[in-house]
Amino acid sequence: MTVKAEPFDLSGKVAMVTGAAGGLGQCFAKTLSAAGASVVLCSRDRDRPELVRLANDLAGAERLAMDVVSHASVEQAFEVLDEKGIQVDILVNNAGVAISGRAQALSDADWNAVVDTNLRGAWTVSQQLAKRLIEQSRPGSIVNIASILGLQPSKGTAPYAVSKAGLIQMTRALALEWARFNIRVNALSPGYIETDINREFLQSDTAAAHIKRIPTRRVGVAEDLAGPILLLASAAGEHMTGSNLVVDGGHSCASL
Ligand SMILES: NC(=O)c1ccc[n+]([C@@H]2O[C@H](COP(=O)([O-])OP(=O)(O)OC[C@H]3O[C@@H](n4cnc5c(N)ncnc54)[C@H](OP(=O)(O)O)[C@@H]3O)[C@@H](O)[C@H]2O)c1
Repeated sequence: MTVKAEPFDLSGKVAMVTGAAGGLGQCFAKTLSAAGASVVLCSRDRDRPELVRLANDLAGAERLAMDVVSHASVEQAFEVLDEKGIQVDILVNNAGVAISGRAQALSDADWNAVVDTNLRGAWTVSQQLAKRLIEQSRPGSIVNIASILGLQPSKGTAPYAVSKAGLIQMTRALALEWARFNIRVNALSPGYIETDINREFLQSDTAAAHIKRIPTRRVGVAEDLAGPILLLASAAGEHMTGSNLVVDGGHSCASL
């Protein structure tokens, strides 16, 4: 048996992170960069201050405008990279939105915003990358940031929970189709981690009840996802494809 000397080393790789200016996106970008990857940081606004600061902190980082809901925007972003000769090896489909509310009260626009961003967006970006990897006969690793709500819904989260369940199944469907091209596709499903997406909710009484049910009795922090993202992105996870790695302090072992 040969053991790889540096299984988590990403030197020479290019990693793209969508929604990179957000709470988890920043952590993913910093982790992949610390492991040696050059990072492509995507946001709908490439001049967003958080993105500019992050790019300044990470050696060789590129900032890229990309709205994952717009096919034209995703296509254009990849064309910009093509023109610069930047070939992406690792993609973290992290861009996401959450709109909560009683199912009977949510609008079609709410549904579309959530499902188009979280599910169709990840599809479009993955497709653009896979076309290039397949054409260039290069291996790749795609990590879709899903959620434990994709496994088990909780009240008031219907479109979000459905989008993440779809993302987990999309992970399996694409893993099945793209394994022959050496493209691995995995999902990472965090439990609650405090960021802009849920800060308000996490201060509510409902959230306090949820937190009591987490076996570790705490909400996660972004850094809890550093090891897991590195495992899925790197050669350490070489035989993993189609899997869904749950990182939730045991929350999904209890009722959500
Ligand atoms: N925090 C948690 O507890 C938790 C748990 C499970 C899963 N997740 C998932 O983790 C991912 C990151 O969430 P987060 O907690 O870091 O939230 P966040 O801070 O709100 O970040 C989400 C990012 O997504 C980007 N985004 C939204 N719509 C987009 C679009 N149409 N095109 C491109 N980018 C778009 C935003 O970037 P710009 O505004 O810069 O474009 C935003 O920074 C999401 O997929 C979320 O569902 C989070």
